[in-house]
Amino acid sequence: DQRKFFVGGNWKMNGNKSSIDGIIKFLNEGGTNPNTEVVCGPPMIYLDYVRQKLDKKIGVAAQNCYKVEKGAFTGEISPAMIKDMGLNWVILGHSERRHVFGESDQLIGEKVAHALAAGLHLIPCVGEKLEEREGGKTEEVVFRQMKAIADAVSDWSRVVIAYEPVWAIGTGKTASPEQAQDVHAAIRKWLEGNVSADVAKSTRILYGGIRYMCVVFLPLYIVHLIHPTGSVTAKNCKELAKKPDIDGFLVGGASLKPEFIDIINARL
Ligand code: G3H
Repeated sequence: DQRKFFVGGNWKMNGNKSSIDGIIKFLNEGGTNPNTEVVCGPPMIYLDYVRQKLDKKIGVAAQNCYKVEKGAFTGEISPAMIKDMGLNWVILGHSERRHVFGESDQLIGEKVAHALAAGLHLIPCVGEKLEEREGGKTEEVVFRQMKAIADAVSDWSRVVIAYEPVWAIGTGKTASPEQAQDVHAAIRKWLEGNVSADVAKSTRILYGGIRYMCVVFLPLYIVHLIHPTGSVTAKNCKELAKKPDIDGFLVGGASLKPEFIDIINARL
């Protein structure tokens, strides 16, 4: 197989030293698998701490970085700094960067170009919102995001794409492994038509889960249950991993828990 199975853990803005010690412990004890490339992404302030303590077979990724090497950009970190701390990976254009922090395709493209030039490996993310899917615009949106990324890529061997549909609240909708596979296949076809057949064949496309929230109405009060049925979990990962164009996962919530080990081993 040209595409080694890949499992990324995006911790987002979660954890403290004590819970991170727990994650490092279960990862060091059972988080390596010769058939799976594993990378985890702690919050920025813990990157060095995690890199020092984690088994070197497991990669460590920053969750974001800026598009230049240094300068007056308060609050940002650069690819050069990430490399300086002994890390090789960065996640770029995650849906929360796009939709909570307003990052544009253009900015994400600039970050991709600079991070690659600085020598990092990248996980750029793409994915449509609920109204875009319902409006039949999934491919249009994902291809537009792919173009902004692909135009900036100088070395595809250091790029792993994550597809993360951004579906929202109370819709009663959840994606099946087939729906995920369909979009993965479309992205691979896009790569074939717009980059090259080789890149399409060798580039890993990860599935990034869906946070599906359901709202339950009761007579006197409303209970909001945040219920991540569409996210990648120990339960659904084996089914997803069987799909021919799903080459791994970018896991959020479940990457903070010991079930992440089952996800690392989803292809066994
Ligand atoms: O980066 C990961 C995705 O945003 C999925 O997050 O697994 O917590 O739903 P989740």
